[in-house]
Amino acid sequence: MQLIDGKKISSEIKNELKLQIEELKKTGKNVPGLAAILVGDNPASQIYVSSKSKSCQEIGMRSIVEKLSVNISEDELIEIINKYNEDKNYHGILVQLPLPKHINEDKIIESISPQKDIDGFHPISVGNLVIGKETFVSCTPAGIQELLKRYEIDTQGKHVVVVGRSNIVGKPIANLMLQKNRFANSVVTVCHSAAKDLSYFTKQADILIAAIGQAEFIKSDMVKDGVVVIDVGINRIEDNTNPKGYKIVGDVAFEEVSKKSSYITPVPGGVGPMTIAMLLSNTFKAYKILGG
Ligand code: GUN
Repeated sequence: MQLIDGKKISSEIKNELKLQIEELKKTGKNVPGLAAILVGDNPASQIYVSSKSKSCQEIGMRSIVEKLSVNISEDELIEIINKYNEDKNYHGILVQLPLPKHINEDKIIESISPQKDIDGFHPISVGNLVIGKETFVSCTPAGIQELLKRYEIDTQGKHVVVVGRSNIVGKPIANLMLQKNRFANSVVTVCHSAAKDLSYFTKQADILIAAIGQAEFIKSDMVKDGVVVIDVGINRIEDNTNPKGYKIVGDVAFEEVSKKSSYITPVPGGVGPMTIAMLLSNTFKAYKILGG
């Protein structure tokens, strides 16, 4: 069994970007910039956004966080997004989800310029992904493919089984692995909670991508020997041996499943760190598309 070290790959990607940004600075060019918009005071969202902003600063990227009141109206929020759509110093815009109930998320996502849609959530980005055109791919799926690439895991003709059908992970990773490209070109099955017998599907996986949102759901009797396991889950479970009183586990029962795996991502330290790395990478890509 080989561990897929997302923490290591993510810091490699950040270093690569940092070097490219240093080059831009040396030649007096503008640097890529990311505008993050946070509405309200959801504690998890606050942590995610500050960690995204900190990562920008670490690699020399421009970063701004717009912290907005939970009571902001949809129109006011769209006005702020429009300001960044026009701003030449910000090449990527992200609106942290979820948004308060009175705001229509779809409308907000659609108000972001597709050229600055570094989260890959805009219907134009999603549509381009489905028809195999170059686009912004949402960060977690892009991070998963990057891990497969950097570990040179053969995906051609392999059976990728995705468990979960979310717009952020399940659907985009299924479309990504279906594309006729290197590190894709797989046969893809998407299954989900309505399946009568999930293990019927998971047992067939050469590459299993678990994005279910339930702690340690995938057990060793649900996979075949030699499977490549990509665990997207981030779940808190009670742990009295930990001073915090909890620990973070994935959607896969790591101890037992790792024994049957050829490769496996740990939680934490697998897919998680890749999400921010790909956000930075997408922002750099937007910078290049927009011409700096
Ligand atoms: N909320 C949870 N994950 C994400 C993400 O990747 N991007 C944004 N914008 N919001 C999120």
